[in-house]
Amino acid sequence: MYIIPKSVTSAATGSCLLLIVSGCGNSAAPTLSSSESLPGGEASVSIQPFASFQLPAENLPQAQHPDFHAGKALAHQPWVRAPTITTARDGLGPLYNARTCLFCHINGGRSQMPESPDRELIGPFVRISIPGKDKIQGVVPEPVYGDQLHTQSVALSHQLRQVSQLKKVSLKAEEVKPEAYIYIDWQHSTFTYPDQTQVNLRWPKPRITKLAYGELNADTMFSLRNSPPIHGTGLLELIPQTAIDKLADPQDSNGDGISGRVNHVWDFEQARTVPGRFGLKANRANNLRIVTAAAFTGDVGITNPLFPQQPCTEAQTRCLKTANGNGEEGVEIPDNLLSLVTDFLRNLGVPKRSNWNSEPVLAGRELFYQSGCQQCHHPDYTTAESCQLPHLSKQKIWPYTDLLLHDMGPDLADGRPDYQASGSEWRTPPLWGVGLREAVNGSNNLLHDGRARTVEEAILWHGGEAKQVRRHFVNLKADQRQLLIEFVKSL
Ligand code: HEC
Ligand code: HEC
Repeated sequence: MYIIPKSVTSAATGSCLLLIVSGCGNSAAPTLSSSESLPGGEASVSIQPFASFQLPAENLPQAQHPDFHAGKALAHQPWVRAPTITTARDGLGPLYNARTCLFCHINGGRSQMPESPDRELIGPFVRISIPGKDKIQGVVPEPVYGDQLHTQSVALSHQLRQVSQLKKVSLKAEEVKPEAYIYIDWQHSTFTYPDQTQVNLRWPKPRITKLAYGELNADTMFSLRNSPPIHGTGLLELIPQTAIDKLADPQDSNGDGISGRVNHVWDFEQARTVPGRFGLKANRANNLRIVTAAAFTGDVGITNPLFPQQPCTEAQTRCLKTANGNGEEGVEIPDNLLSLVTDFLRNLGVPKRSNWNSEPVLAGRELFYQSGCQQCHHPDYTTAESCQLPHLSKQKIWPYTDLLLHDMGPDLADGRPDYQASGSEWRTPPLWGVGLREAVNGSNNLLHDGRARTVEEAILWHGGEAKQVRRHFVNLKADQRQLLIEFVKSL
């Protein structure tokens, strides 16, 4: 039985909601299993003495360690503009968001949002598109700027902009200008629990300045996305699709208010539509080679066998004419090096849990299930058999995600559909390692746009399908809320 207070103030809008508390979907925690201490199964890694999300899986065979480190180097060392004396790492841009994968996925973790309104947004980026459908790209790109605003370019005047402001270096007209500079203005509100405890909440308002190629189309939709952590992605790739499909309930036929949906996206290798799994709206196929290739071209401007086009639209003629860093295969990163980076991703281990069976954590575990969090943050799976990755096969893993899309309500909506995901749907993110984010790289930025600074703030932003679960959390006693949070931080 729950105590039902009369009303609760909604986080961002300040409007009053009538409470209907239901017990649907809330359940007692399952019997504790010792496998919960190893969220990545035998691929779990010890993070003593330093927390990191870029360690090789504990059971990665020694013989594969050199390749892991070669892949890591390609994900870590900066790419440079072409032409240079080194042909192996050139071809950056001409338009890009960062020079390396790990510039954004810092130490394998997430990016940092700029705290101050005069710091440029780098790391997180803004996807853009105009209304309409496109089976292959998933969105209709903005005609001049494409589907992602590139805030960096190889233009020397841009690279030297801090210096040039001081020395008044003149900008060269023929250079490829970055598409825009973006800043974040934080908006704030106060949330009050029924017990009168208050929490400050904030959300970002992107400010797009210095658009270099004219006005954006008037109907442009924007999606600010923070880079998510990348550890354990090889294990997520091996979750059988049937296990995910079983959790989906698109019509909410069990009437619990939660209707997880599978996104359907284009598979650029098989040239057909497949279920989506990666990306914040499950907007990428379940194939880390495609995810890596798309990141190389879209985020770093490095062409590859899957995406051989430079990240320039037809309107950006100067961008198209800029020297490329193509090698013998006619692209900037050839197939074998692309595979090294993909396998580096696949073999990233998941941290062992150090505090998994203390009394407070177990009490919080009980409250996690009682509140119904596991309805989306589905705890465990067994990975499929893989001949290429035998060490990641048949592992009992604990990622706490159903990898499905959920309508999270208007406060979290970006209003920009992506393949079949609506403007208010997001993929449930895995919770493993969430409590280590500060130790890993100091980034506190939870949720798709990095707005939440704590697990508590992240929960308070849950709306839409998670409304009832949030309500359950809000109505817990303060010490119980703390226990639930401690459990989440222990994952
Ligand atoms: C400019 C910052 C940036 C760079 C550079 C970058 N990423 Fe990302 N990455 C992101 C963002 C933002 C997302 C979420 C994208 C989305 O939802 O569409 C993401 C998503 C991912 C995902 C999906 C994770 C998940 O949970 O679904 C993987 C894997 C990934 N990136 C790997 C890479 C690799 C490999 C590289 C280098 C080739 C790279 N990224 C370069 C920002 C970046
Ligand atoms: C209806 C499905 C649903 C339920 C129920 C749900 N969540 Fe979530 N959760 C999500 C989705 C989807 C997101 C991502 C939202 C976004 O990025 O805007 C998320 C994000 C989070 C995050 C941030 C993770 C990150 O990496 O940024 C945390 C922490 C979290 N949820 C914890 C909880 C807890 C604790 C509960 C129970 C009180 C809960 N969630 C209930 C779907 C759900």
